[in-house]
Amino acid sequence: MESEVDIGLAGQTDCVEIAGMSRALIENGLRWRWKPSRILSLIRHPDCVVITATVSDEIIGFAAMEFHELHAHLNLLAVKSKRRRNGVGQKLLDWLEESVMIAGLNYISLEVRTSNVAAITFYEKAGYHIDHLASGYYNGIEDAYRMKHDLISDDVAKRRP
Ligand SMILES: CC(C)(COP(=O)(O)OP(=O)(O)OC[C@H]1O[C@@H](n2cnc3c(N)ncnc32)[C@H](O)[C@@H]1OP(=O)(O)O)[C@@H](O)C(=O)NCCC(=O)NCCS
Repeated sequence: MESEVDIGLAGQTDCVEIAGMSRALIENGLRWRWKPSRILSLIRHPDCVVITATVSDEIIGFAAMEFHELHAHLNLLAVKSKRRRNGVGQKLLDWLEESVMIAGLNYISLEVRTSNVAAITFYEKAGYHIDHLASGYYNGIEDAYRMKHDLISDDVAKRRP
């Protein structure tokens, strides 16, 4: 585990770097949807959070999530290639899940490319399951799995003797 990693809210000036990371690490081969202006609007939006994982001021990972009435939707989550398999992705997810629990929401949803076996495995390990296949979700270029994590049933199960 990268013990020196700090997780915190992204600043407005981080939008360019985060958008570049989204393009390179998440949207490769797809149309670039998460441009700096869109990331900036998430950072400014009261019902969204954009967080970064930093080591000595270098952004090594980030995530973006929207809060709805009953659930939260995880839009983006990525860790730089060289920093992977060190618990950083899990640390970002833990931060987000804690905020979703505090907000009293029921579940988290997300879409992931069906070819992205690493991310699917990562999310399954964290308690997410595939809910359904969204055909042609990425501009008709690729299918997505919609995944969900039911926080209420997990929380109840954890508190059971
Ligand atoms: C998915 C991603 C965020 C995981 O980040 P990470 O920091 O490497 O994840 P962690 O180190 O916290 O992994 C936690 C656990 O998830 C599982 N996991 C993570 N990456 C995995 C992989 N490539 N293959 C198999 N299992 C994996 C493992 O069980 C891991 O625990 P372990 O290392 O003790 O075995 C990272 O691979 C990434 O940025 N991928 C590109 C962007 C992306 O696909 N984002 C998701 C779609 S938006």
